[in-house]
Order: sequence, then structure tokens, then C-alpha cells
Amino acid sequence: MNADSTNASSYDQIPYPSFSFPESHPRHLAIIAGLFGLQTALPAKASVLELGCASGGNLIPMAYGMPQARCVGVDLSARQIEIGQALVTKAGLKNVDLRCMNLADLDKTFGTFDYIICHGVFSWVPAEVQKRILEICSANLSPQGVAYVSYNTLPGWNMYRSIRDMMLFHTRQFNEPAMIVGQARAFLDFAVKAVAQQQSAYSMLLKGELERLRTQSDAYLFHDHLEKENNPVYFHEFARMAEAQGLRYLGESTFHTMTPVEFDPEIQKTLHAITDKIVAMEQYIDFLRNRTFRATLLCRRDNKLVRRIAPAAIQKLQVATALQSVSQTPEVWSATQENYVHPNGSELRTTDALTKAVLFTLKDSWPGWQPFERLLKTVREAALKSPLVKTLVVNEENLGRAVLQLFQQGMVELHLDPPQFVTKVAVRPKVSALVRAQIQEGRPLTNLRHETVQVPDLFRYIAGLCDGKRDSAQIASALEEGINSGVLKMREGKELPTVPADRLKYFSGVVANALAFLARSAMLQA
Ligand SMILES: C[S@@+](CC[C@H](N)C(=O)[O-])C[C@H]1O[C@@H](n2cnc3c(N)ncnc32)[C@H](O)[C@@H]1O
Repeated sequence: MNADSTNASSYDQIPYPSFSFPESHPRHLAIIAGLFGLQTALPAKASVLELGCASGGNLIPMAYGMPQARCVGVDLSARQIEIGQALVTKAGLKNVDLRCMNLADLDKTFGTFDYIICHGVFSWVPAEVQKRILEICSANLSPQGVAYVSYNTLPGWNMYRSIRDMMLFHTRQFNEPAMIVGQARAFLDFAVKAVAQQQSAYSMLLKGELERLRTQSDAYLFHDHLEKENNPVYFHEFARMAEAQGLRYLGESTFHTMTPVEFDPEIQKTLHAITDKIVAMEQYIDFLRNRTFRATLLCRRDNKLVRRIAPAAIQKLQVATALQSVSQTPEVWSATQENYVHPNGSELRTTDALTKAVLFTLKDSWPGWQPFERLLKTVREAALKSPLVKTLVVNEENLGRAVLQLFQQGMVELHLDPPQFVTKVAVRPKVSALVRAQIQEGRPLTNLRHETVQVPDLFRYIAGLCDGKRDSAQIASALEEGINSGVLKMREGKELPTVPADRLKYFSGVVANALAFLARSAMLQA
């Protein structure tokens, strides 16, 4: 098969910023599979294949967090694989194998994998490589395995496509990547000015999208919008292509997008009256949402799935939430409405006592979790103590339903085998060996929840000093040394105290703030 060779060279010229994607983590895939009755391999000991892994920003942290798993990544770009390999070596990982190869050459002799991940590739390769990706997801997937494929979708990409066409037209006479990106930006600036005063529906749409694009990195603009191949599809088309390779739609990795929860009950009722088929239903929801992106989970066709999720499915799981109630003193055991906000901006309003009790019980554990059984015990005891509760029965069934509903709304996380991090700062704090290697290699930092964390430079430097051997005072004096020697620069205009005692106090304060940030960000380990 002749995969597009321009792909390799374009990613060698401008490597893709390679990050972690929590939604693609086998731990998350196993939870969704389990809810639909598919017993996948335990992620901690699984085999994982990533197609188009770039420089391993997603696969390497997975391998670090699951030392007994076997992780293989393939990518066409030699430069990106080299960058990834340098990080693997620096972190001393033995369970990850990055290979520079065309995914089209991957055949059955490669063996089978419990999880196959292909993020951000499908829409940027020609039709024959798209077909190959799905063939691999079928032929190289273990019988109860899960494949994750993300792609751009229609109708949302129709709008992006118009802007892409304008930028491609404007840059048509250039070949050099920096020139192409520079000219594309110049065009965006011009177009923003041109539509600024217009009030039509078209100009409003264009304005929003142009503004969003203007703030993106060169690499994103070049690869996501200006690559030669850019082929969004409708969800129903993707599902049909997957079925043709013996695959079945399992679910969406952003689980809460599978149901039309944000629409009025009347609209939801009509949707259910139009179709009872899962793919068609989600296609209608995509039309209504103008969806631009999906990360779809597939399994082999011969697996039987249970679509009606039983609350019992979550009884062995751990539950966590980042939701915080707006009120300092939320009223749990009454029909009063309470409002909650998530750090990602989503909101929840509820009058349901059990839902409020779940959120109240979990609120101080974040970013940690609580086993469902402990949650049940705490909520049951609290309900018994409340004089307001006369008729409410708290049992596995109804508490399970409340938690499940929160999960379907994207408001709680479920874990089978939660990641190991500590939320209290130890006497000698320690960040992962991976984070220390990422710092040395100048790469983005990944926390133990598989999220990429934006860490200010000063805190990044301090994180590099957290090797489990230094206490806070030693970290503070190493920080001062770093500044005195000029290795670390203070923010422009920032003056350090001149009196030694004040200076010491200043560095101790900075270190305390940095350690609190690292603990909150799930970056410290035992
Ligand atoms: C947009 S990047 C996405 C990288 C990464 N998965 C992510 O989402 O951050 C697409 C990647 O697919 C790789 N790729 C494209 N065609 C390929 C092929 N035929 N075989 C292997 N890798 C390929 C490119 O080299 C590039 O690293």
C-alpha cells in the first residue's frame, strides 16, 4: 500500500505537539466497555497499540502508569519517533516500543492487542489508509478488545472546511511550511477585520471560528487545517466503514455525549420516536449539535453488548468528581435546588437528594476517589441521621442509578483500577520519573491522571527538584541556587528581597505554593 509520503515529510518538518488524551486511556475504555457488558483485559496488564503515535505524548505516559502493560506505537515520521525514543530512554521505560513505520505495513504477524488507539490520524490520511486503520482495528484486536479511533465529523466541519478552503486558496503558491503558516495567519487577520462590522449570521459564524484559529499554534494550524488530506465524515458513514471491517460501534469515549441530555424532554421524546437505533440516534444528535469531532470506541462484531446499563455495573467501581456546589452550605436532604460547577465550565442543577448526597460526600476527595461501597455507607448513614428523610431508601440500586446518571451527564468519573497519586505533600515530595524526564527533554508535562498540565516555568523547575530525596527547605535552597547561577530566570520586573531572612521566606513561600499546585494537579506520587 502506498500511504501518502507527504505525511511523513510534513510531520518531520513541523513535528506535531504530542500530548496525552485521558479519553483514550485503556482505564477509561475499560470502564465504558464494562458498562456495556464487554469484559476487556485489565488495563494494567494489557497490550496496547497506538497508530500514528507521533512522539509518544500519549503512549509513553500510559506505559509509565501501567508498568506491566506492553505498549507499541507506530508512526511514519522518523523525527517524531526519535524525539519520543529520547524520552523513553530518559525515563528508563522498558515496556514501550516506538517504531518508525507505515501503519499500512502492519499485518497479522504484529500480533493482537487488547487496546488499539488511533487519535488524530483518521481524518488526515487518504481513503485507503483510513480503510487500513479499520482493518487493523479488526484483525489485530483481541476478541474482547477495544479500539479507539478519533476523527473530524460533519456537519460541524462544514464551517471549518470553508475557512480551510480560503486559507488553501490564499497559500496555493507556497511550498515552505513556515511561509504557508505565515500567509494563512495573514489571511485570517485580514478576514477578521473584513467581517468585524458585519452582523449577518455568516459573519458571526466566521468571526468566532477565525478568532479561535488565530490563537492556535503554528503546528496545529499547519497540520489540522492545511494538510493536503482532511476528510471529515458523518458518524453514520464512519460506523458503516467500521462495520464493513467486522467491527461494531461500542460507544463514544466522551460517554456523556451519547445521549441528548441537554435537550428538552419533548425533544428527547421525539428523537426516541424517530429511531431506536443507536447509530441513527447519535447521528441525529450530531446534526443538532453541529458536531465537529468524535472519538469512537469499536469492538469486534461477534461481541454481545448490553445497551441497558444496570446500576449494579458500577458497584465495584471507584467514584470521583471535580464538581463543586455554588452554595457554601448546600441543602442535601430536601427538595431544594442546588447548583454545581465543574472546572471545565459545565454546570449541574438538581433537586435530587441522592445526587446531592453523592456530590457532598465526594467533594473533599478530589482529585482522589471513593469506592462505591464506601460512598453508599456514608450516604446511608447521613440519610439515617437526617430528620428530613422519612421515605427515602438508600440502597445499591438507587444510589447506583444516581451515580450512573451523573456519569451519563459527564459530572463524575468512574475508575476500576485508579491511577496512583498522592494529594498530600510528603516531607520529601516526589514527582514521577516521567515528569522529571519530560522536564529534561523540554516536553509537556503529564500528571498521573494522564492529563497534560500547564505548569508555570518556576513551578516546572521546582517539580524537577522533587526527587523524593529533598525536603521543602532543600528544595527552596536548590531553587535559590538555580536563580543565583542564572539557570532559572525570574519573571521580568520581579525583584527578589535583598535581606537574607526575607529571601528565605520568599523562596519557602514559592516552594509551598508550587508543592500545593503539584499535589492538586495529581503530579505527586508516594
Ligand atoms: C495529526 S498527527 C496526530 C498525532 C497524535 N496521534 C496526536 O493526536 O497527537 C497525525 C500523525 O499520524 C502519522 N501518520 C500519518 N500517516 C501515517 C501512516 N500511514 N503510518 C503511520 N503514521 C502515520 C503522522 O506522522 C502524524 O504523527
